Amino acid sequence: MDFALSGKVAVITGGSEGIGACTARLLAREGCDVAIGARREEPLQATASAIQQESGRVPLALSTDVTSAEDCAGLVRATIERFGGIDILINNAGASSAQPFEQLDDEVWQADLDLKLFGAVRMARQCLPSMRERGGGRVINVLNIGAKQPGPGSMPTTVSRAAGLALTKALSRDVAADNVLVNAVCIGSIKSAQWGRFREQRAPEATEAEFLAQVGRNIPLGRIGETEEAANLIVFLASGAASYITGTAINVDGGASGTW
Ligand SMILES: NC(=O)c1ccc[n+]([C@@H]2O[C@H](COP(=O)([O-])OP(=O)(O)OC[C@H]3O[C@@H](n4cnc5c(N)ncnc54)[C@H](OP(=O)(O)O)[C@@H]3O)[C@@H](O)[C@H]2O)c1
Repeated sequence: MDFALSGKVAVITGGSEGIGACTARLLAREGCDVAIGARREEPLQATASAIQQESGRVPLALSTDVTSAEDCAGLVRATIERFGGIDILINNAGASSAQPFEQLDDEVWQADLDLKLFGAVRMARQCLPSMRERGGGRVINVLNIGAKQPGPGSMPTTVSRAAGLALTKALSRDVAADNVLVNAVCIGSIKSAQWGRFREQRAPEATEAEFLAQVGRNIPLGRIGETEEAANLIVFLASGAASYITGTAINVDGGASGTW
């Protein structure tokens, strides 16, 4: 299969760790120039070095908070200055936030929407002109399976992610004529730093392996997913092999979700 990714330019928010870092590494291996944005400098630089070692490409790694419109504009501007334009945007920055409804105040709601919905809106707004200029592009929104099937105690994240689903579909229609394809990936349970934090909160007495095995028992495929298993789908959707797919949301969840 020809992924036709060589020479493309990709921006990945939350590209310093977990699914975002793995996606950036795979895209660079396929011949993309990559720009990664996240807040903390140390993991950003560690991932940038790993990408350079593996692919021989020097990525752009820029400290970016997607809740800041200025930071989003800065990341896009720096990417265009360094690489000449943008073909692929992966809106991946995010963090889990789920509590019973009555424990949530407006501040928590607003912070979650600002990170997950507005982060994606700001980045897409900044990237679209360059994609149009280059004759097309890809936007991939990394969401959560709760966007389609919200469970109890799952707000605000499931509501922010459902807004991400609507954004994916509506934007795909607005920009289809410009050959910009917009899709979402709905993540179930994928091993990442996030799960280390969950273990500390939910089962501090368990080892990491015990905790992850316990999580895996509730998943039809019997295990938690690897970051590469989510990144593979993201790379496919970014590639020339996915040229007739837009406005859809695909689950990567080992069968956990009861919906399509
Ligand atoms: N892993 C799962 O099981 C799972 C399940 C459902 C959904 N997801 C979603 O998938 C995406 C990736 O998750 P992951 O598990 O790979 O997470 P992770 O390992 O915790 O990585 C999150 C990344 O996002 C960055 N980030 C967080 N807040 C940011 C902000 N305000 N601005 C810019 N970057 C920010 C982090 O860096 P800094 O902290 O340095 O900014 C980091 O690079 C997230 O959107 C997450 O909500 C994951």
